Amino acid sequence: MNILLLGSGGREHALAWKLAQSPACDTLFAAPGNPGIAQHGQLVDLAATDHAAVLAFCSEHAIGLVVIGPEAPLVDGLADSLRGAGVPVFGPSRVAAQLEGSKGFTKDLCRRANIPTAGYARVTNKAEAQAALAPFGLPVVIKADGLAAGKGVIIAMTHAEAEAAIEDMFSGSFGDAGAEVVIEEFMTGEEASFFALTDGTSILPLGSAQDHKRVGDGDTGPNTGGMGAYSPARVLTPALEAQVIEEIIRPTVAAMAAEGMPYSGVLYAGLMLTPTGPKLIEYNARFGDPECQVLMMRLEDDLVALLLAVAQGRLAELGSVTLSADPALTIVMAANGYPGTPEKGGAIAGISEAEATGAKVFHAGTALADGELVANGGRVLNVTAKGPSVQAAQAAAYAALDAVTFPSGFYRRDIGWREVEREGGA
Ligand code: AMP
Ligand code: GLY
Repeated sequence: MNILLLGSGGREHALAWKLAQSPACDTLFAAPGNPGIAQHGQLVDLAATDHAAVLAFCSEHAIGLVVIGPEAPLVDGLADSLRGAGVPVFGPSRVAAQLEGSKGFTKDLCRRANIPTAGYARVTNKAEAQAALAPFGLPVVIKADGLAAGKGVIIAMTHAEAEAAIEDMFSGSFGDAGAEVVIEEFMTGEEASFFALTDGTSILPLGSAQDHKRVGDGDTGPNTGGMGAYSPARVLTPALEAQVIEEIIRPTVAAMAAEGMPYSGVLYAGLMLTPTGPKLIEYNARFGDPECQVLMMRLEDDLVALLLAVAQGRLAELGSVTLSADPALTIVMAANGYPGTPEKGGAIAGISEAEATGAKVFHAGTALADGELVANGGRVLNVTAKGPSVQAAQAAAYAALDAVTFPSGFYRRDIGWREVEREGGA
């Protein structure tokens, strides 16, 4: 079967790497892809925003499965266009992708389905926001409702900070994403991510991971898209995982189906493990980046078979997902300037030397300039390794990273620190 993968980051490189390993995959096409993805498939110049062009490409190249990597095309309804034309697609419809596209939508769904999450208020103007703010304690969390590339969340320590954040959002700093605002109760605990495949009815747990959102060592500095991750997140014990499935994932999938918005794809739950149990922070309608890289590193099953079963509503036919018992860990190498304006064009070398150690280096933001590999984004490479413990995976990933030369980049030196500490290693 021919497969079309949409996206260009490290998440998509990891997906391409696994998709291409499947005996069911004839030609893998990727749009726009990146130089790492080009090792596994053919890059095509196709804009995900041009639904007619994507449909024409699918019919011309007999595409049997489209895999949508990032959130923007999902929220834009690309999966609906493909499904409407009878093309199997991995990714939720526009209305189902509201689970990521509108924080207020998700909070209301949680309220209706009795899903544990932070208390909240939805507001559409400053006066409403000021009135709604009063009952919340401090800190209080202020969120732009729509997609804001991970930047639309302010944790305000004072009411003045909260009012400034509200002012900022309603004055258009986040564009349309800030036209509506959600005010949330602040939750405490450790964060973990949980991933489940669902075809709208059946659910197949995929595994857990923990991201590192702050740019600096010791979880300091501004938020990023994620500077590194490991899987599994053992802080989500089997008992807690079962609780997450029963109290959060299952009621969400059931409510979406009952309300005529069946959710088909991967459901990524950002969780806070609070003293009173796991609570939903937010949903994403796609794989996490870089969490996908560690999940793919551990996945022992045929990814095409899994994603196709989701796309065709046949997930019930599959028993379970097999992940390696060995943890995986990935370190993001970012370009200087990230998460602000990253320096572009910096030279990169040593990837084959790094991979000779047994690690896998996923390309997240690279390009070829005159045949040389250079940085072309904020997050540039994801150096990923497995080991019998998180500590061993961490040591293997950093040893591989030492073989990479990227003078205009930086990385965190402590990815996995919480789990390494729990393993008694640091
Ligand atoms: P989000 O973009 O919704 O994932 O939020 C970004 C980060 O803000 C999360 O990973 C949490 O660290 C933090 N956060 C969001 N909502 C809350 C909340 N209600 N309580 C505490 N922290 C939160
Ligand atoms: N790593 C966080 C995300 O993909 O949203």
